[in-house]
This record gives sequence, C-alpha cells and structure tokens, in this order.
Amino acid sequence: MSVLKREVLIPEAAILKRVREIADQISNDYQGTEPILVGILKGSIIFMADLMRAIRIPVQMDFIRAASYGSGTQSSGTVRVTKDIELPIQGRPVILIEDIVDSGLTLAYVKELLEERGAASLKICALIDKSERRERDILVDYCGFQVQEGFLVGYGLDCNEEFRNLPEICVLKE
Ligand code: IMP
Ligand code: MG
Repeated sequence: MSVLKREVLIPEAAILKRVREIADQISNDYQGTEPILVGILKGSIIFMADLMRAIRIPVQMDFIRAASYGSGTQSSGTVRVTKDIELPIQGRPVILIEDIVDSGLTLAYVKELLEERGAASLKICALIDKSERRERDILVDYCGFQVQEGFLVGYGLDCNEEFRNLPEICVLKE
C-alpha cells in the first residue's frame, strides 16, 4: 500500500467529456472506414474502453505492450515490445492509443514499427501530452489534455502498478 500523497488534477467528469469529444472527432474523420485501435498496454486500457464505446463507426481493437519505463517515475530510455499486435494491419487505418506521452520514445518506436508493416495510415491519440521531458518529436493527432509537468496517476496511469483504478487523474505530491 502506497503512502504517496496525491491531488486531483483532472476530475472524472472532465475526462469523460473530453473523451466523448475525441470520439466524435474520430467518428467524423474516419467515416466510411473501419480503423484498428491499437492500445499500448497497460496504461491505455481505461481510456481505450471509454473511447471505443463513444465512437460511432465500426472499429476493431488490438494491443501492443511496449514500455520505456522500468519501475518508479524515471524512464529507462530503452523501448521493449513484450506483446505484439495480432491483427494484420497491412492497408488498414490504424490509430495508436496511448495514455500519456512523456519522452515520446515509446510512441516513436511503436509508430515506426507499425508503419513498417504497411498500415494505410497511422494516427496517434493520447489522453495526456506531457511536454516536460520530450526527446522525440511526436505529433499527437488527438490529444485529451496538455500537461506541463508532474507524475500523474489514475484512469489507467500507474506508479509501480498502483492507482490505475482511480476514476480521476491525480498528480503525485513529494
Ligand atoms: P515515454 O516513452 O517517455 O513517452 O513514456 C510513455 C510511458 O511512460 C507512458 O505510456 C506511461 O506508461 C509512462 N509514463 C510517463 N509519464 C507518466 C506519468 O506521469 N504517470 C504514469 N506513467 C507515466
Ligand atoms: Mg503506457
């Protein structure tokens, strides 16, 4: 059990409102197609589940597990894929779903990997775009919230596997 203090940064209602707005945008942009949503495990699953159910066109889902973080709050700087996608993406529109973009290393790596496999198009949808430690130029096509700094937990985001089930997004306090 963690004794870390936290403060609510984005309340549940604000998250759900923004998720519905992004889902409307995706439904409009991809009308007449059936994109594959590829969630980056594990942090994206709560966001992905809410987003998918608010999208009004047919979509398919798959997951990839890639991480540039060891444990705690510091990036290890290397990206590993420990679970690959299972659907063929050749010729398909793909939307990568990420919880939070920090250094950008994870997304840059996964994006390149899926582009090499011939996706028809590849866009990025991230709940949070955190600019503090950006190392790679990443264009986030659909962004929920922009945050300057801090370590965030809740709504899928963890600190050493804790707090993923919080319905709101909190910032950890020193
Ligand atoms: P990046 O490769 O540095 O962009 O790291 C992205 C991944 O690091 C995210 O998918 C998260 O799993 C994790 N991460 C980065 N910042 C935070 C944070 O503030 N809270 C929780 N996880 C984070
Ligand atoms: Mg993640």
